[in-house]
Amino acid sequence: MNGHCVPMASETSRAAHLAQIVSESTAKIKAYRQEEGLPPLSLGPDAPLDVKYPPHVEQGRRALIDASLELGDLATGPVELRLVPGWAVMTMFAVTQFIFDFDIPHHVPLTTAEGISYDALAKRVHVGPAVLCQILRAGMPYHMFHEPRPGHVAHTATTKVMASRPLIKDWTGLSNDVLLPDAAGLTEALQKEPAADDPAKTGFMFARGGGEPGMYMYLEKHPEQVRQFAGVMGAFQQDEAYAPRHLIESWPADARGGGTKLVDLGGSTGIVAFALADAFPGLEIVVQDLPGALEAAQVREGKNLSFMPHDFFNEQPVKGTDLYLFRWVLHNWPDAHVQRILRAFIPSLKPGTRVIIFDEIMPPAGSMSLSVERNQRNSDFGMLILFNSKIRDVEEWKQVINEADQRFEVKDVRYPADSRLSFLEIIWQP
Ligand SMILES: C[S@@+](CC[C@H](N)C(=O)[O-])C[C@H]1O[C@@H](n2cnc3c(N)ncnc32)[C@H](O)[C@@H]1O
Repeated sequence: MNGHCVPMASETSRAAHLAQIVSESTAKIKAYRQEEGLPPLSLGPDAPLDVKYPPHVEQGRRALIDASLELGDLATGPVELRLVPGWAVMTMFAVTQFIFDFDIPHHVPLTTAEGISYDALAKRVHVGPAVLCQILRAGMPYHMFHEPRPGHVAHTATTKVMASRPLIKDWTGLSNDVLLPDAAGLTEALQKEPAADDPAKTGFMFARGGGEPGMYMYLEKHPEQVRQFAGVMGAFQQDEAYAPRHLIESWPADARGGGTKLVDLGGSTGIVAFALADAFPGLEIVVQDLPGALEAAQVREGKNLSFMPHDFFNEQPVKGTDLYLFRWVLHNWPDAHVQRILRAFIPSLKPGTRVIIFDEIMPPAGSMSLSVERNQRNSDFGMLILFNSKIRDVEEWKQVINEADQRFEVKDVRYPADSRLSFLEIIWQP
């Protein structure tokens, strides 16, 4: 239930209400952790990195995040709220980048609580001890490293995550190298292209001097960034909200075997296709993507699964397929491009062919909890910066599909529980 946009009688009563949620949810989490023999909530060096809660406790955890976010904002007040976050974001990102670029997580001992002295660490990473100390202390209020005693620095749980999960490095790199500089290009992009409907004229493309028809074509010429991007896509699959299981559980019962032919367009490294092939061994799957993306994919063929380079703006070479899948692909494209992509495979469709779009559907504005709304709007804003596209709401999806060709009939829309991606099933009805 959304609360953050609802005007309340008084801020005091709102704050008291939020404080009550904080208190009740904290108690719920505490009780569960005690029952399970888990230590209390902490970001200290010994905290377990991943705790999965059962649904009723997870609900409490989400409520705690939302209530404490809003309570903190209320207490911060309007002026400070507008002054502080920009600087905080800059610090957090720049410090994170420094930590990765100088490989600090692997130079600070992982096994001892003592940590390492700034002097010894400075020698290892070839940076002056004073500036090293200055930068790492800037990260400490954001839970990155701590000082177990004066002059020494040691891991927290979040820097242990940085040491053990390479995908976090890709994610940080994407944010620092791509999203932040490109967001700065937004104003120039809109001054030159106020309609914001061309993927060649985005903040991303202006920040790189233009010359390519969009981010993906740019990536084709920059293999290191393709690898990083594929890493980030992989990181998303590990997030339960983007897990391939949601697609598997939504998969139509009558298309699970018997030689059903499936083309997965923009299928990237095939993580999702392999998960589908494991779940439904009778499927015959072709994964298509741009050549550079497939090269980054360390393709492992097997089962009834093969990879094929194909640009989905060109006519679809695999004919007579039962089902075409766009999983988390079309939100990257403005309306006119989505329509071009859909029209490009009309010549290969037969009556009754299904097209499954498994993608983000934006809920109505203000209908989400504060943390979810922030996440959704972050993704949406990122789409604008990178692609001049958007996260469509359900009516916008239907409209863009119908305007591609009236013979595409949206048969079903489903919202799997706990999934960030939703299911749109389209039938070709010539
Ligand atoms: C957001 S990723 C989604 C990948 C994958 N379907 C998934 O669910 O994780 C979008 C994919 O579309 C691919 N793509 C972009 N432009 C393409 C094009 N013109 N033809 C084919 N694939 C393209 C990208 O290389 C990338 O792998």
